[in-house]
Amino acid sequence: MNYPKRVSDFTSDFMNYGLLYAIANKRIHSPTPLPAEENWSFWSKPRSAGLEFFARAYPPESKRKAYLDSMLKQDHAIGIESHYDVSNEFYALFLDTQYKFYTCAEFKSNQDTLETAQEHKARHLLSLLELNGNEKLLDLGCGWGSMLRFIQDAGHRGELSGFTLSKEQLIYDQHKLDLNVSLTNFVTALFKDGPYDRILSIGSLEHVKPKELKAVYQKIYDALVPKGLAVHQFFSFEREPYPVSGILMQLFFPGSLLVMHHRHIEAAESAGFMITHDSVHDYKPTLKAWYDRLAANQEKAIGLVGLEVFNRYMTFFPIAWLFFQQKEAELHRVVMKK
Ligand SMILES: C[S@@+](CC[C@H](N)C(=O)[O-])C[C@H]1O[C@@H](n2cnc3c(N)ncnc32)[C@H](O)[C@@H]1O
Repeated sequence: MNYPKRVSDFTSDFMNYGLLYAIANKRIHSPTPLPAEENWSFWSKPRSAGLEFFARAYPPESKRKAYLDSMLKQDHAIGIESHYDVSNEFYALFLDTQYKFYTCAEFKSNQDTLETAQEHKARHLLSLLELNGNEKLLDLGCGWGSMLRFIQDAGHRGELSGFTLSKEQLIYDQHKLDLNVSLTNFVTALFKDGPYDRILSIGSLEHVKPKELKAVYQKIYDALVPKGLAVHQFFSFEREPYPVSGILMQLFFPGSLLVMHHRHIEAAESAGFMITHDSVHDYKPTLKAWYDRLAANQEKAIGLVGLEVFNRYMTFFPIAWLFFQQKEAELHRVVMKK
């Protein structure tokens, strides 16, 4: 892209979507790969109070709301495909080698590898699921089959199934892992194979639009057997409903907008659930681990997905890190009992 065009794109991004969006989009379209150290420090270093204030105040809330409301009209599948259907080989360059979780791990010490940290997370979720060996379980947004496989490896004999909206993941889950996974939108579809003893989600409720939340929790509640458990790991906003970061995230998850944590809890309780566990976990070490692995695999990554996609993920991980560092969002594991 020529220089005058990049300047005019920056100006129009800035006017419409604010400073951080304009900077991020400009860096994503950099004509060269973003240098790992400079790029991480660019996003993670503290900004002056004046710049921080301006970055959060513009565009004003009415403009942010109008833009986000228009993005939310988009079909779920469009946003999911643009983020997940990039290339399975590309994701394999930075995810843990064993289970390919694309969700927050649990680093218990500086010595933990990403693989160990993902196992810690999976073990914690497994304990929250309180499985005895025969329960029928559905994983909403099962990704590359990670948790279904972990549960299988733990010796579970009950029926396991999963939904995804990513065609690349579906191919991997069905053909490589031989899992019972279907391309099903858990927001719009009926859970016709229920009832389930357990319903699980790890990192997929973030894609449920604010207006859909209540109905999704009701559907999960209705699809569970009496005393059944829903176990969810997700992150949610801790601040106002239309922050600037909601706009920034459209670069990476178009059509998705987080809701505030208390809205999840209210929606679950109004469906009839009792909340029996709610813990907070730190996403930052996982984001840094993915970033370091991606940067170390720069050449292969660009060969697989091209420069722009490489730069997009190199921009996404530090911005997401900053998002948690500044406590705009928090990651929770929640158990809900019917
Ligand atoms: C961040 S990934 C997490 C994958 C997996 N749970 C893990 O821990 O690695 C989000 C997953 O949610 C799925 N997803 C998001 N919205 C969905 C929807 N409406 N219906 C079905 N799957 C959805 C995506 O396809 C993807 O598999």
